[in-house]
Amino acid sequence: MSHWTAALHDIATALVRSERKATVLTGAGISIPSGVPSFRGEKGLWERYDPAEYAHIDAFHRQPARVWQMLRELRQVIERARPNPAHLALARLEELGYLRAVVTQNVDGLHQAAGSRDVVELHGSYREVVCLACGARYPWDSLELLAPDETPPRCTCGGLLKPDVVLFGELLPRYPLIRAWVEAQNCDTLLVIGTSAEVEPAASLPAVARNAGARIVEINPHPALDADFTLAAPAEEVLPRLVEVVEEIRGTSAA
Ligand code: APR
Repeated sequence: MSHWTAALHDIATALVRSERKATVLTGAGISIPSGVPSFRGEKGLWERYDPAEYAHIDAFHRQPARVWQMLRELRQVIERARPNPAHLALARLEELGYLRAVVTQNVDGLHQAAGSRDVVELHGSYREVVCLACGARYPWDSLELLAPDETPPRCTCGGLLKPDVVLFGELLPRYPLIRAWVEAQNCDTLLVIGTSAEVEPAASLPAVARNAGARIVEINPHPALDADFTLAAPAEEVLPRLVEVVEEIRGTSAA
């Protein structure tokens, strides 16, 4: 038995018995098996691109073409990526009625592609581009028509377009931020999956949930938190197994 399987039964039982349900917080780690690189650590995106030069809004204003190059590269990776068993397991837990919401720092849309319906995107997404001058929004796919081969692409008003992802130095979108706080404060369990929990404000959500009485479960081969349950293993191994145990417990209690 792996060192983490013993905890699964307790976590699954808590989920099935829970009144207030669980909230999930995800980060780049959950999408690594889908081929999307993480940000920190070995092979992380910030090893290749200095975030101060490529991921800060000031850098975007100073050198938009350079930042667009990195953003397009990431978009190409995301376009090829498919949900992995960890994303699918979370969609199943939602379907079974055990989740309040999936709060994600990821911009890859893989939770939705896996079938999760209530996804709170704290750092935006690649679905749209936004004009920094007039605020117009366009679907990413219309970029080809709007500004073919133009780097940086521009709006019809002449303003700079930026993918609707949050760069360092930018505010997080208001509604997702409020939702994230509400869902952390009102859950029984916060499942923290695949995040180094280094970037605020998402990094504060475990403390917010704990102060409101939730138990914290961390799933990460290199855990970052002092959680109530730590499952130090890849999410794509742990989460499908968690769903199996949840379904076993449901089956037993229904019988
Ligand atoms: N399953 C679960 N976790 C994993 C796996 C896996 N298979 N593989 C790696 N991890 C963990 C790593 O141990 C690490 O703790 O995923 C985490 C990834 O951390 P980061 O790269 O720092 O990603 P994240 O926490 O999402 O970064 C937050 O920082 O630069 C910004 O905006 C960017 O949204 C991003 C934010």
